[in-house]
Amino acid sequence: MSRSNSNIDHYSVWNYDSDLKLDSSEKIFKFVLEKSKLAPSAHNSQPWKVKLNGEKIEIFADASKHLKISDPLKRQLYLSLGCLAATVVSVCDAIGIAYDLNWSYDKSNSLACSIGLTTSSGVTLDKNLLNALHSRVTNRLSYKNTAIDPTIINDMKALLSEDGVVLKVITNSKNLDHVKKSLLQAMELAFSNKGFRQELAAWIRPSSKKYGDGMPGFTLNIPKPVSFLIPSLLKKINLTKVMMIENNKIVNETPSFAIISVKNDEPLDWLKAGFEAQRLFLFLTSKEIAFHVLNAAVENNEVKDGLRKRLSLSDHPVMIWRMGHPIRSVEHSPRR
Ligand SMILES: Cc1cc2nc3c(=O)[nH]c(=O)nc-3n(C[C@H](O)[C@H](O)[C@H](O)COP(=O)(O)O)c2cc1C
Repeated sequence: MSRSNSNIDHYSVWNYDSDLKLDSSEKIFKFVLEKSKLAPSAHNSQPWKVKLNGEKIEIFADASKHLKISDPLKRQLYLSLGCLAATVVSVCDAIGIAYDLNWSYDKSNSLACSIGLTTSSGVTLDKNLLNALHSRVTNRLSYKNTAIDPTIINDMKALLSEDGVVLKVITNSKNLDHVKKSLLQAMELAFSNKGFRQELAAWIRPSSKKYGDGMPGFTLNIPKPVSFLIPSLLKKINLTKVMMIENNKIVNETPSFAIISVKNDEPLDWLKAGFEAQRLFLFLTSKEIAFHVLNAAVENNEVKDGLRKRLSLSDHPVMIWRMGHPIRSVEHSPRR
């Protein structure tokens, strides 16, 4: 895997020209394809291949980026592809282009969905959505101890559009305690697994801007000098106790959590759940609410079952994130 190329600016995708002129179909497709890179993905692995087939954008799974240890069922991979599909359609919405999204999960050729674009309708820019796309970021810091406005939570629920995807927002103290305990238990169990640490180490990057994927130390609150050592330290030493000090702090300094569950725990529903999650992230960004996915609990069956029971969830939780008012802004991660 080629991860570093010092000639490419892996951060330029986060900028956009407010005087954008998309006056040909070719420019529109180029813009949508380029901006699809803004999608979040597990470990910033960007586990996809995006192809243009006539007027259709096709999204395929890239098996070479599968996180085999932390994501044995490819659930995180399909959630990430769903985030990518939502990014493509949100870019279309942001420039006023009509589209037709078709989920086409097919194990044999790894095609996850295709999105047909109608470029003849002309372009109208939605600056708020363009801003949200370009400022969405995972914020792994502590959050302020202030509640999220209930109207924002109601609006989040109203945004869901895919069948079989359910959102639960946790704000009451008893349920917050259950979620916090489950997340910390799952993270501790994951970090205690040598294979998990080794796989994670392969996606943590030193705080340098030359890498096109993975998580640079500055996105993980790791001081710059330590960021150059952490990938090899993580591989060799069990740093669970040290990592859990920071995890305990940020999980406890969180006023609310969102849990996305699906009716059927299978790829099509994972795609749809990822799709809804990214649309919610863009909405939260537009409301200046910070968020941070913590998915270890959904990959540990015991912890997940305990959480389902305690929260009386009848569906399968597949994505959990912290959310709250940010203490400060954080930097973007790279894209290939
Ligand atoms: C399906 C999925 C699972 C994720 N799981 C975690 C997680 O367990 N822990 C974490 O810190 N970040 C998690 N993330 C956040 C990604 O690491 C992050 O999106 C990626 O590094 C890109 O950074 P950005 O969101 O700031 O663009 C997840 C993201 C997705 C889409």
